Amino acid sequence: MKRLISILAILSVLVGSAAPQMTQEEKEAMKFADKLIKKMTLREKFGQLEQFITRRGVVTGPGGVKCDIESAVRKGEVGSFLSIRDRNEALRLQKMAVEESRLGIPLIFGYDIIHGCKIIFPENLAMSCSWNLDAIERSARIAAEESAATAIHWTFSPMCDISFDPRWSRVSEGAGEDPYLGAKIAAAMVRGYQGDDLSAQNTIAACIKHFAAYGAAQAGKDYNTVDMSELMFRNLYLPPYRAAVDAGAVTVMSSFNDFKGVPASGNKWLLYDLLREELGFRGFVVSDWNAVHEMIIHGVAADGKDAAELALKAHLNMDMLGGDYIAYGEQLVKEGRISEKLVDELVREVLAVKYRLGLFEDPYRYGKQDLSKVYYLPENMEFAREVAAESMVLLKNEGVLPLQKGVKIALIGPFADAPKDQLGAWRGLGDEKRSITFRTALEERFGKENVLYTKACECGKYADKILEGGIEEAVKIAEQSDIVLLSMGLSGWHSGESRSRAEITIPAPQQALLDALKNTGKKIVVLLSTGRPLDIRNEVEKADAVLLTWHSGTMAGPAVADLVSGDKNPSGHLTMSFPCSVGQVPVHYNSKNTGRPPKSQFKAQGYSSSYVDIQNAPLFPFGHGLSYTEFEYSDLKVLTPTVELGGVVKVSVKVTNKGKVAGDDVAQLYVHDLVAETTRPVRELKGFERLSLKAGESKVVEFEIPTSELAYCHSDLSWKADKGDFHVWVGADSYASLKGKFTIK
Ligand code: BGC
Repeated sequence: MKRLISILAILSVLVGSAAPQMTQEEKEAMKFADKLIKKMTLREKFGQLEQFITRRGVVTGPGGVKCDIESAVRKGEVGSFLSIRDRNEALRLQKMAVEESRLGIPLIFGYDIIHGCKIIFPENLAMSCSWNLDAIERSARIAAEESAATAIHWTFSPMCDISFDPRWSRVSEGAGEDPYLGAKIAAAMVRGYQGDDLSAQNTIAACIKHFAAYGAAQAGKDYNTVDMSELMFRNLYLPPYRAAVDAGAVTVMSSFNDFKGVPASGNKWLLYDLLREELGFRGFVVSDWNAVHEMIIHGVAADGKDAAELALKAHLNMDMLGGDYIAYGEQLVKEGRISEKLVDELVREVLAVKYRLGLFEDPYRYGKQDLSKVYYLPENMEFAREVAAESMVLLKNEGVLPLQKGVKIALIGPFADAPKDQLGAWRGLGDEKRSITFRTALEERFGKENVLYTKACECGKYADKILEGGIEEAVKIAEQSDIVLLSMGLSGWHSGESRSRAEITIPAPQQALLDALKNTGKKIVVLLSTGRPLDIRNEVEKADAVLLTWHSGTMAGPAVADLVSGDKNPSGHLTMSFPCSVGQVPVHYNSKNTGRPPKSQFKAQGYSSSYVDIQNAPLFPFGHGLSYTEFEYSDLKVLTPTVELGGVVKVSVKVTNKGKVAGDDVAQLYVHDLVAETTRPVRELKGFERLSLKAGESKVVEFEIPTSELAYCHSDLSWKADKGDFHVWVGADSYASLKGKFTIK
């Protein structure tokens, strides 16, 4: 017994924190599921583990089975559907499952509600630049309300994948490069979707994805191999997934990539040892789209049956679309390759989530609301406008913004009046007709007569070119105006899944447009549309101001108008570094010193870990973001110069708004562990606070950092903080220079 206790104690040090106790609600759900399982046939059990999509009544997952979906529902052979957009269709299928199948087990409907359902908020990377956790949580809550009313019970969000690679288009779906901020955002989103009561009519199940390390796909190619040390994984990639589990997310999605040589969907170490045993996850795991079947192509399964066996043994509960569970599950049990006990466990976890959603009590509870009282509510639209403005980042400004009243504007470019592009990737059930574009909003703000518009150039899935006469018209209206607002970058189609790019510059036709406009001698403000960091050296050099507008959703236009007019002051700060060149990738602030760091981050140089042809520093670092006012950071005080291990480090700093207008800033605290057991990042974010200051106002911000937050993964994989000296910096970006020191005893 003594030995067992000490093993458990060692385990809890290794894993960081012990798995939380099961709640009463969870126990009740498991009990209910166990009772039901006793009545189920083996086929019905595998039915609960299968997720399908309908396309005119036929299941057509790539490589998956083809069957008559309605009779499959009636036979209890479908546990879930994804991507049903229509509430009546969802309710029709639900009725079929509940009233016509033998046991009447309700279906669970999942959908990619990634940054909004009807109202589309900025893409997730953009929203993370607001550093506003309350706003992010609220955006998820609004998305949940709109989804739930549509009979969607489950979203495949939050995406918790850290990434340092802007070639990978899915960075748009995440929270950037930092595990600390990523963890806070992941937890906020889970809270937003699930609320305090999963069974409430307006909350939905969250899904942590893509487990795990999908953002580290080699060379930024989507779906590519991931290979890294476990140390790196635990330090930089795991924290957001862990935070989302701790926040109570009830589902997880396995990723497409392999990890430690085994595809995630068949990776027992990932899905069982780490996720369940160590992190204490007790919900269910769904595969990514056809990912179980794709293990054949990965080369670790001979056929669908083999793939199903691998996934089941890895404790993957639900097969998205592949069809291998329902096709081969029974045979696998009959042949003794899988135990029915394991199947029961997998089914129990699925049924328990359905129970907790309240679907057994009332399978139709999510489709009852009056949609006009839920969709596009004016207060939610207003909120979407605010969060869009807070997400935008002023990268450069040489005195041209905000615009003067009465100014005549030439509004030019492919995304200035592009209602669909502004919604970005994963548009949920968003209706582009509800988008308010830059053009509409600027015309309203500055007067139609003061905004001359031309598109000049096309950029998207089908074309990347100057329109006929586009440059001439653009130059003409520029000459008739006081200032050019040039909307350029990448389209909505360029964001999200499977849009990896080797070049991360703005396409050549748009650069030609910029050059022509530059020749007019007019001041140029670039409005940068993108879902990922880009190499914008050229644009930054030529433009007088650059406002990163991202793909900011339904209300992107009014948000831009608010910022360029000065009605609102830009306050977004980057959460992913903007490289100088694709050759720097991966470039991130929390990199290591090495034994030979460059003497200067801003000069090319040899015999150091840097380049001889380009500076080491990115073009814009993590945390960067300008304002129309100026904030001064001073009086950094380490209130606890020495702290016991287990104590709390306290640091304060004074922030003053030195300018003439009110503004918001994000005070960021970074630390560095001077002598550690393994090499550590040069800086790590460990605290932040968004604050609003009137012109001339000062505030003292106090940070409290428990020493447990300074823990990291040691070479023996234990998770603990070191004693010793630390540096601490506070400021408005990851180059913050105000510095202090503390010691952990
Ligand atoms: C994506 C997931 C998504 C799923 C369902 C996959 O292709 O990788 O992020 O949730 O499709 O649409």
